[in-house]
Amino acid sequence: MPDKTQLEGEVYHPSAEVVAQAHIKDWEAIAEHARNDLQGFWAECADELEWYQKWDKVLDDSNKPFFKWFVGGKVNIVHNCIDRHLKTWRKNKLALIWESEDGKEHRTFSYYAMNREVTRMANIIKSMGVQKGDRVTIYLPRIPEIVFAMLACAKIGAVHSVVFAGFSTDALQGRIEDSQSRLVITCDGSFVNGKVIELKRTVDEALKRCPSVENVIVIKRVGHDVPVDPLRDHWYHALSALPVANGKCPTEMMDAEDPLYILYTSGSTGKPKAILHTHGGYMVGTYATLKYVFDLKDDDRWWCAADPGWVTGHSYIVYGPMLNGATSFMFEGGPAYPYPNRWWQCVERYGITVFYTAPTAIRGLMRFGEAWPNKHDLSSLRLLGTVGEPINPEAWRWYHRVIGKSRCPIMDTWWQTETGMFMITPTPVVALKPGSGTRPFFGQEAEVVNENGDPVPDGEEGYLVLKHPWPAMLRTIYGDPDRYVKQYWSKYPGRYLTGDSAKRDKDGYFWIIGRVDDVINVSGHRLGTAEIESALVSHPAVAEAAAIGLPHEIKGTGIHCFCLLRAGHAPSESLAEELRQHVAQHISPIARPETVKFVDKLPKTRSGKIMRRVLKARALGMPEGDISTLEE
Ligand code: WTA
Repeated sequence: MPDKTQLEGEVYHPSAEVVAQAHIKDWEAIAEHARNDLQGFWAECADELEWYQKWDKVLDDSNKPFFKWFVGGKVNIVHNCIDRHLKTWRKNKLALIWESEDGKEHRTFSYYAMNREVTRMANIIKSMGVQKGDRVTIYLPRIPEIVFAMLACAKIGAVHSVVFAGFSTDALQGRIEDSQSRLVITCDGSFVNGKVIELKRTVDEALKRCPSVENVIVIKRVGHDVPVDPLRDHWYHALSALPVANGKCPTEMMDAEDPLYILYTSGSTGKPKAILHTHGGYMVGTYATLKYVFDLKDDDRWWCAADPGWVTGHSYIVYGPMLNGATSFMFEGGPAYPYPNRWWQCVERYGITVFYTAPTAIRGLMRFGEAWPNKHDLSSLRLLGTVGEPINPEAWRWYHRVIGKSRCPIMDTWWQTETGMFMITPTPVVALKPGSGTRPFFGQEAEVVNENGDPVPDGEEGYLVLKHPWPAMLRTIYGDPDRYVKQYWSKYPGRYLTGDSAKRDKDGYFWIIGRVDDVINVSGHRLGTAEIESALVSHPAVAEAAAIGLPHEIKGTGIHCFCLLRAGHAPSESLAEELRQHVAQHISPIARPETVKFVDKLPKTRSGKIMRRVLKARALGMPEGDISTLEE
């Protein structure tokens, strides 16, 4: 590491107090060790967890890019999330603290209670005929049952596919169909800013086109009347009372490389990709990154304010914290309902020590001013974090000063659904620069390269690539291994293509700029232009559509669409509004475009590909760049 006095730009050094209590004593020494002995470093991390049977080989790279980790090892991630803790004092420790959106309900679960809940859910899932390797779709909001459901699947060796409860019918249907799930776990509805979202109705609608689904388990959350198909739908509380739900359920012994879950994420083309993660490597990666980066200790109260439906929730609400035997807090609601102090009220009420959220939330809360957080005692906080998109220095400084009282270092963690774990990230002991995730985690090296794959000089923008395999890496795209190879490993063979552009500065710090593919990052959520465009053309008035991202003050990027209408349809304000609504209904309210404009022509290449780059440049009043391929 460069001498700290030499770092360029705005630099925040960790306080002696933070350094003194950190797990990492000497960052440079660990980094050096991992650099020289990648497998040794990861084996030591894996050794801190329990295995039914030790691995024969840490890394098998004989069939690149289909890497295998901890080959020959027998394990189940749930054994390390729950079973292991039951043999120690941690069985009495709180695993989960939950508060409802309206603040009137509080539920807590010790590791012991967590085991009971997960076992019950596992027995019920099994009784539906679900077997090892079968896929189960989970469509639930931020309630404890989503954690039980995920862990229950993993416990019996089923593969969960969680669909974010903010997604609408088409998105849900596509994911159920692609995964060929036999079972869906959902609830009657969810509370969002005081309103009820009818999740079960969305499931019913989606299942009209999903013949693979045999059963639906329905959890009662909002108490609304919902249609129940007596042959297919089962109330969870009714099932829970049955004897079959209440016996023991052994944790299935899995191969380290057996699938744990799939999670859909938007890619540059076509439909969302099912990213596949496994029991062994993913377990080791999420365990070690959370331990080192957020420095979790037994007396911490950890709050990852993401949704379990995204990878952040998978790795750092469900698996990572429980692997570390931590106490997590989960909040059903959002940051600003009913007032913009809702989160800070929770920090104070539960004595949160480590808090992790997204830049969009910080920017949103910043808007309401400092008076809201200042009403609360935030002195329990010792570390903060962000994820999902680049954080602008302005928001970073506000977070640091107003929330962290200039005491709490901010861990700006760069990673992806595909990486499963933090990849470029600070740790509590390194000097921070607002807007930079600093350097790669132990055992990893990143590079910024040009079109030919040659590293660009420091300070210049290029494609961000990763040089080494890591245990929590995606293993494939479920059902489409060719696409896995093509998407991530073909442009620069031997190196992992992230799809992001970045710069590296003279101190070796990385600065993420954004996506370079046709993915739009809205408030930290990945949406493919292809998905938005296909939702638009599913509307009878639209013949062709193009979606682009433009800067947005709160969301980071907002979606803007251009539509070519079919004959017989005329542009109007009301049609534009209808189309915005149409996209929200088909994909998710997150995907609702900021604007829909009507055009007579879309810029295309001679081979017929829409040139979104040109639309974007025009919208921003910038030069259109190389338009030699533009059709006449
Ligand atoms: C972006 C979320 C800048 C990036 C964990 C990446 C970030 C995409 C950061 C992955 C960060 C995530 N700074 N950009 N700290 N974290 N990103 O799969 O563009 O939903 O490729 O995973 O989010 O989004 P995903």
